[in-house]
Amino acid sequence: MRRLLLEHDQVPGIETYEVYRKQGGYRSVEKALKKMSPEDVLEEVKKSGLRGRGGAGFPTGMKWSFLAKPEGVPRHLLCNADESEPGTFKDRYLMEKIPHLLIEGMITSSYALGANVSYIYIRGEYMWVLDILEKAVAEAYDNGWLGKNILGSGFDLDLYVCPGGGAYICGEETALIESLEGKRGNPRMKPPFPAVAGLWGRPTVVNNVESIAAVVPIVNDGGDEYAKIGVGRSTGTKLISACGNLERPGVYEIEMGITVEEFIYGDDYCRGIAKGKKLKACVPGGSSVPILPHYLVTKTATGEDRLMTYESLAEGGFESGSMLGSGGFIVFDEDQCIVRNTWNFARFYAHESCGQCSPCREGTGWMEKVLNRLEHGQGNMRDIDLLADINKKIEGNTICPLGDAAAWPVAAAIRHFRDEFEWHVNHREEAQKRNYGLISEKTASA
Ligand SMILES: Cc1cc2nc3c(=O)[nH]c(=O)nc-3n(C[C@H](O)[C@H](O)[C@H](O)COP(=O)(O)O)c2cc1C
Repeated sequence: MRRLLLEHDQVPGIETYEVYRKQGGYRSVEKALKKMSPEDVLEEVKKSGLRGRGGAGFPTGMKWSFLAKPEGVPRHLLCNADESEPGTFKDRYLMEKIPHLLIEGMITSSYALGANVSYIYIRGEYMWVLDILEKAVAEAYDNGWLGKNILGSGFDLDLYVCPGGGAYICGEETALIESLEGKRGNPRMKPPFPAVAGLWGRPTVVNNVESIAAVVPIVNDGGDEYAKIGVGRSTGTKLISACGNLERPGVYEIEMGITVEEFIYGDDYCRGIAKGKKLKACVPGGSSVPILPHYLVTKTATGEDRLMTYESLAEGGFESGSMLGSGGFIVFDEDQCIVRNTWNFARFYAHESCGQCSPCREGTGWMEKVLNRLEHGQGNMRDIDLLADINKKIEGNTICPLGDAAAWPVAAAIRHFRDEFEWHVNHREEAQKRNYGLISEKTASA
């Protein structure tokens, strides 16, 4: 198993410039600035097949090639380090452990895009990581990797680390841009896309932390080498943050294409369900993606092995599939209540909706209220259909995908676990008691 990003994460002192450099750090900057043109770097990224690691999986090389290049207009690269999706903590791990890897990726990528002022927009709650990054940025300046005329190449780059506004919506790329401009983080209508009119109306590329870090091995070893790892259009390695009822939760770098079975049960990864319990369900890509019941986690509906790839996790569409998303892999054992979890996610989205679009502002709040009722033994059968109805009215009717992200998990939970929702209606007293801790979750879901 190759590790391209976290290869050195256990090396003592790897967060410092000295140790990072000794491990071969900043080689991609030397190679790019001394031996390659910006177009050569772009070509390698295209060849690698790298797809955006922020959730949508859009090809990075293609995104970069859309960047408008009007004469005399500055361009920007923004690193999206807002990471607020429940279940996702891979970017935090990378920035905390190996901050110079991100900075190196920012320099090489900015060179390819012709950006001379770039930003890392970091989640407002990651204040200690902000300190780590700022220290690393200062070290990079001190050692001549940032600033004017880097390595005598004539390329200048200033890099700023900016704390985010403390809202999930600020991870949506246009809301991030608004926030960086000092405004309330409300998503913008598209078009125009950031590649044409982004930060201060200038051509801008927004990429996830992991996408930018992946540019380092791509430039070092070549895009073709990177593309050799993986299956089909899912190339390279992927960071997965695994949490929930697992024997060994944590952040793992996997080669795309290993089976979900191996990831959950393999000795190199999560080592199975904690305390010897049974797998009940899995949300494989962060709270925004559909939940899979146990029989669809390791196998698709047609009986094929489910792989850790964009395509395989989506196999079966919304009927029987899910998404790789941001790689936030959440596992539920047999004792967990799906209604309670669905309500928990719904609370998050209702709280985080920016309120700009009525279907999302009102719909997420209604869903939270109805799920709250059901979970606490005060719902009725009509509520279950009401949820499906609210869902349809949010989906596709908002400026940004936060509305969809709120609707899909509820729809999937009802599709696969309708019996549990009905149990909460038919056993109102038990549902209420359970909520007050009078009977165990186990008894209630039996
Ligand atoms: C509500 C919402 C929150 C998002 N949060 C993040 C985030 O925290 N980090 C991230 O990289 N992308 C996030 N995205 C996706 C970004 O809009 C964007 O697609 C991504 O940063 C592009 O980078 P990539 O092409 O490297 O994946 C979010 C999208 C939405 C709709």
